[in-house]
Amino acid sequence: MYYLAPSIENLHRIFDQNERKDYLRLDLNENPGGLPQAVINEVLNDVTPQLVAQYPETLHFTEVLADFLHTDINHLCLVNGSAEGIRYIIQAFTSPKGRIVGVVPSYFMFQVYSEMYDRTFVKVPYNDDLSMNIDNIIKEITPETQLLILLNPNNPMGNCYSEEEFQRIYDAAKQNQVTLLIDEAYHYFYPKTFIKYALVDEHVFVTRTFSKLFSMAGCRLGYVAGWPDGIKMVQKMCTPHNTNAFALRFAEKIITNPSILNDLIDKFNEGRKYLIDTLDAHGYQHKGEAGNFLFIKVKTDADNIVRRMKEEKRILIKSYPNVGDFGTCLRVSIGEKQYMEQFINALLELDVK
Ligand SMILES: Cc1ncc(COP(=O)(O)O)c(C=O)c1O
Repeated sequence: MYYLAPSIENLHRIFDQNERKDYLRLDLNENPGGLPQAVINEVLNDVTPQLVAQYPETLHFTEVLADFLHTDINHLCLVNGSAEGIRYIIQAFTSPKGRIVGVVPSYFMFQVYSEMYDRTFVKVPYNDDLSMNIDNIIKEITPETQLLILLNPNNPMGNCYSEEEFQRIYDAAKQNQVTLLIDEAYHYFYPKTFIKYALVDEHVFVTRTFSKLFSMAGCRLGYVAGWPDGIKMVQKMCTPHNTNAFALRFAEKIITNPSILNDLIDKFNEGRKYLIDTLDAHGYQHKGEAGNFLFIKVKTDADNIVRRMKEEKRILIKSYPNVGDFGTCLRVSIGEKQYMEQFINALLELDVK
């Protein structure tokens, strides 16, 4: 008998409609410049026919990663991009109709997965001044809640939690026996992390990715960090050989060479400073304390700027509606200074009344 799951039939998904062509993509929070060519060449020199022919072996890389994170391999599960890890956590630690609490706006896949698996996603909105009231999160942490999703920092809002704020949320989650998922996709752009909680507590997970600062979005690699018993459950969800051999090689190269990582951070900081200084100099309001992206309130019409950036300047950025006091505003990914110059020059030309 043919069957189609109603939750899939009715699921509304928006897939990326843009093609890269010769566009400068500042809409996906990638690193537009990527890794230095020399790093790419060195890794490619190690690619042999055997490496391509064989299923990837993950033990060695997991050991290297555990060393890098000062933990051991039982605390880690490699995934094909952190979006996969998030999906497994939702599948394993919540039930049909189960209550999931998360802030909005946020990374859209939390709501997509909730809908896909027929979970109930409870939204905690931001204040009009784009701050987050921690009490509003705590209020929603009820005994019926199965999963609380926090982002540190949040995408697209770029906000983060102080140690005290996090501790209050964590205590409420403990009291109500709620599993906590902390998405740290933008770690390193903002160094403060709550991974220590995931390494000592059975019901806390941190997801991280190699797509952002590590500039490996095309390779697809991420990981879930957590308590060994919980990690075993996430591992059970994984498809066989879910990560690829090339991703493991690139990631190992980066995490075992501090100069590569430091160089990525320096270039990012230079681009960020240039963007913020220039926006300030031209009287633009912006928001995003952390992460590799910024909200910008434009002087004219944000949707029109997005359209004209694409058509006239070959630059892709996003607009977000109803962002508190900012109304509809731009979200732009931050990259090296040369790309920020390209963006700012275009913005100053297009955003005139
Ligand atoms: C907050 C957040 N989490 C997770 C992801 C997924 O990253 P990936 O699947 O590339 O690891 C993204 C991607 O943009 C993101 O913004």
